[in-house]
Amino acid sequence: MATPQPLTDTLPAAWYHDADQFERERRMIFARNWWLVGREQQLAQAGDYVTANVAGWPVFVVRDREKGLRAFHNVCRHRAGPLFTDEGGRCQTLRCQYHGWIYGFDGSLRTAPGFPESGTLDKSKFGLFPVRVETWRGLVFVCLEEAAPDLMTWMGDVGRLADEYPAAQTFVFMDETTVEGACDWKAYGDNSCEGYHLPFVHGALNKAVSGADIRPYENGGFVGFHVDYGGTSDTRANKGLWIYKFPGLLLHYSDRALNIEQVEPDRAGAMTIRSWYWFPEGEEAYGRAYMADSVDVMHEDMGVCLKVQKNLEAGIYQSGKLSPEKEPGTIFFQRLIREALEADPPRLGLAA
Ligand code: FES
Ligand SMILES: [Fe+2]
Repeated sequence: MATPQPLTDTLPAAWYHDADQFERERRMIFARNWWLVGREQQLAQAGDYVTANVAGWPVFVVRDREKGLRAFHNVCRHRAGPLFTDEGGRCQTLRCQYHGWIYGFDGSLRTAPGFPESGTLDKSKFGLFPVRVETWRGLVFVCLEEAAPDLMTWMGDVGRLADEYPAAQTFVFMDETTVEGACDWKAYGDNSCEGYHLPFVHGALNKAVSGADIRPYENGGFVGFHVDYGGTSDTRANKGLWIYKFPGLLLHYSDRALNIEQVEPDRAGAMTIRSWYWFPEGEEAYGRAYMADSVDVMHEDMGVCLKVQKNLEAGIYQSGKLSPEKEPGTIFFQRLIREALEADPPRLGLAA
């Protein structure tokens, strides 16, 4: 008879609300993984830009005059002013909003008003801090660490699985929403990687789903939910694929809808989830119904995670156990967190 394997401990409760732990996760996890900042459509013309906040690092992506994409930290090399303070738009030049230093789209410092043209300020040493940028299926991603794998390597088997479904470019973009919550990004991730809670937390969704094959994928580091919809609901039919890609990218595919989300940790114990929705041309009514349904599901998840977070912070619960049968995805997600925290720290802040 096989000896039973010992059960896996959950992550320690303190990790979900400790500021030092969050600082480690910013560097060891979020700085070295790719982060969804927006849609390629938003960056069609030279000078188009979008901004984002990568776990506390403000960044922006801009289309240059050669039609390439460039990304930088949104911090001026003079006294750390911002170049942009809105979500996006079109600009002629990269100008700091504090004292007007001007940078080229390549990040090089061009003008520093008030500093003598031939003086002691070596402009070549004060370019913007670059960030890596790549696109995939109409989406724009950034990565802070220079040595991290490229986007497609990072995606691993997500690329192969997603190719069976329509991409953002084949659908019409409908809307973007954000939901904030006083819960740690890991509590939301733990929840998103298992279907164990479905009958208890999601009454309507549970009726619409007739079966789900939930599997961790090593190549790309994600949990895939291969879902069969029973067809009892108007908004969810046939089959679907949900993905939780480490550390915080959620992808929901079906033939009739595309919904992609980026989990944005704000600090220990607080996060925002940003969601984008696309649908086939002419499917506006269906799209609105799907979106409303999806936002309900998100609120159900957030609702339970907020309560979990309060209990993790209260101080009686220290750690629990995970079911190998019901929570393989959460076991996998927590393993990836532990492994990421054991690696060597990334090198950040190499100037352009
Ligand atoms: S901080 Fe940017 S010009 Fe002063
Ligand atoms: Fe859920």
